[in-house]
Amino acid sequence: MFEKITGLFNRQKGIDDENKLLQAIDRNKLPNHIAIIMDGNGRWAQRRGLPRSLGHRAGVESLRNVVKLCSELGVKVLTCYAFSTENWKRPEDEVSYLMDLLVEYLRKEVDELHSQQVKINAIGRLEELPHQAQEALKAAFRKTANNTGLVLNLALNYGGRSEITDAVLHIAKALDDKQLEIKDINEKLIQQYLYTSGMPDPELLIRPSGDARISNFLLWQLAYTEFWLTPVMWPDFKRNHLLQAILDFQRRERRFGGIIKK
Ligand code: IPE
Ligand code: IPE
Ligand code: MG
Repeated sequence: MFEKITGLFNRQKGIDDENKLLQAIDRNKLPNHIAIIMDGNGRWAQRRGLPRSLGHRAGVESLRNVVKLCSELGVKVLTCYAFSTENWKRPEDEVSYLMDLLVEYLRKEVDELHSQQVKINAIGRLEELPHQAQEALKAAFRKTANNTGLVLNLALNYGGRSEITDAVLHIAKALDDKQLEIKDINEKLIQQYLYTSGMPDPELLIRPSGDARISNFLLWQLAYTEFWLTPVMWPDFKRNHLLQAILDFQRRERRFGGIIKK
């Protein structure tokens, strides 16, 4: 009984906090593109004496919540780091659990995402993913291709260095084929050859779990991104954390190397 009342009280407090945060956020200054390193699933599980796999499963719920909130707020792009080019180093059973979870997520969520007008996209060396994952992705892309709401960019088998390497290879090939000339090479052209071609750079990067590193994520695109770090593990990441991150972002002074006259 007591627990039930505390639970209700906490839920009500969460809603009150959310309303306060929503009132404080300036809807005209939302970040267009938010990137998240969904980290801390393993530690979250281990602290509870659970297998790491259950941490990954609990992390899917956080993903679901942030996608919904970004979609409600009108954020244009949300890029979520789900599997890095280095994550293949993990034990085979963890890797295959993650791949199966991806397929399950896509199959179960696609209708709901579609109804929210979310357009599903992915970045990374997708051709190296297991066949089933590639098929589930293709089906999700196809279904949501014409949606005009939030672009959900899943970073899968993604590495910032492999992305830049792939861009260099494609540019070199275009030079060789005489489709490009050396004088055409500039920052804008390089951007067009990245996986994120046509998307704005992230304005806000969120990394839960207390680690303060990039882990090979969006190396080019994060040049002037604002970082928001929290010790909270990804499965514990709630709507209010995202709202707090956005509010903090709005209070920052972004100078881009220049000076702000006061
Ligand atoms: C992030 O959580 C998920 C992936 C990397 C796929 P981790 O599995 O890295 O969790 P920690 O960092 O070990 O706690
Ligand atoms: C980054 O987390 C990759 C993802 C969240 C998918 P990691 O857990 O792999 O990063 P490191 O190894 O702690 O740097
Ligand atoms: Mg980790």
